[in-house]
Amino acid sequence: MTTTYIALIGCGFVADYYMATIDAYPELEISGVYDKNPKRLKAFSEYYKLNTYSSIEDLLSDKKISIVLNLTDPRSHYTISKQCLQAGKHVYSEKPLAMNFEDAEDLVKLAKETNLHISSAPCSVLGKSAKTLAHAVRNKMCGDIKLVYAELDDGMVHKMAYKKWFSESGAPWPYRDEFEVGCTLEHAGYYLAWLMVMFGPVRSVTAFSDCVVPEKIGDEEPLQPFDTADISFGLLKFESGVVARLSTTIVAPHDHSIRIFCDNGVIYMDECWDNDDEVYLKKMVRIRRKTFLSPIKKKVKLPNEVKVNKVDRGNTKMDFLLGVQDLATAINTGKRNQLSADFSLHVNEVALALQYAGTQSSTYITKSRF
Ligand SMILES: NC(=O)c1ccc[n+]([C@@H]2O[C@H](COP(=O)([O-])OP(=O)(O)OC[C@H]3O[C@@H](n4cnc5c(N)ncnc54)[C@H](O)[C@@H]3O)[C@@H](O)[C@H]2O)c1
Repeated sequence: MTTTYIALIGCGFVADYYMATIDAYPELEISGVYDKNPKRLKAFSEYYKLNTYSSIEDLLSDKKISIVLNLTDPRSHYTISKQCLQAGKHVYSEKPLAMNFEDAEDLVKLAKETNLHISSAPCSVLGKSAKTLAHAVRNKMCGDIKLVYAELDDGMVHKMAYKKWFSESGAPWPYRDEFEVGCTLEHAGYYLAWLMVMFGPVRSVTAFSDCVVPEKIGDEEPLQPFDTADISFGLLKFESGVVARLSTTIVAPHDHSIRIFCDNGVIYMDECWDNDDEVYLKKMVRIRRKTFLSPIKKKVKLPNEVKVNKVDRGNTKMDFLLGVQDLATAINTGKRNQLSADFSLHVNEVALALQYAGTQSSTYITKSRF
């Protein structure tokens, strides 16, 4: 077993998610952590008994470290990932890779020039439910794919008790940052990555996005910007010909389902934030002159058992280290990783096109490929 040494920058809310499955990966060793907020650094490192660094420079000078996990807020991703690549470290970044396409492209170019990897979350595409769905699609269990409806609705987050949400080690949920960055840039990647693995690169994005709840934080200091889109609806045309509709909102009631409509039926599942959610299919049946979807559902099974590291953090039942393991394997074996730099860039590009579509959108033609 080759040990891969990793370090975390950013000990906020999501960092606890990464710690949730660390015991399942004896090949990944955390050399240490850093956060610019001394209180968070102390609370997190003491809770998990981890070594700390005094600065990013101190962390990057540790020759043992191979991969840096950039778990800072989205608007800090570009600067920190760039600094890590320049110091010769592979990077696993939380999503989005960057806040605009040019910065994301710059990171990918730098990684290639320096012969380093840069990968981006989300990694749920490496989980059992995504693999099961892809297996059903690849094997045309319901025939040729014609259309996909995917939903990433989180309910009215502004009406929830979000100020009382804390991570296991005590980090508050960063509601201001979440609202300012936007739910589409934060969440669309969860299904975009799945769709891209199943159907290849997206050729065009025709989308609409808007801010329908500007008053999310009551009388607190206004959000900056105050009107980040909290709903988006995208029509994605894949190079393979498949058409998908993706909705991402923090307004409509919780719905993380996907339905894949095929010639002879539908393949579907309910929750993409659960690595172990079941995938089902229903076939079309014809009885005399009537054609309809069978009321009988059939569970889709993978031919080989896939290990699931069980996690239960509220509505998140995902193993956040799947992507880090994938990256470590790529570094150690030279094999291409699923969440490659080009793949991560493409997910980022489409998420940006959806988040910033606006209300007068025209069709956006993608530039990147993987
Ligand atoms: N909050 C969630 O539920 C969630 C879930 C999945 C993914 N994510 C993603 O994880 C990332 C982090 O989100 P979060 O919720 O943990 O945010 P957070 O604000 O709770 O944590 C970010 C941490 O990064 C630190 N930081 C920022 N700039 C830094 C710098 N220059 N040097 C050192 N530390 C720095 C901050 O002090 C903070 O502690 C985001 O990209 C987000 O999209 C969040």
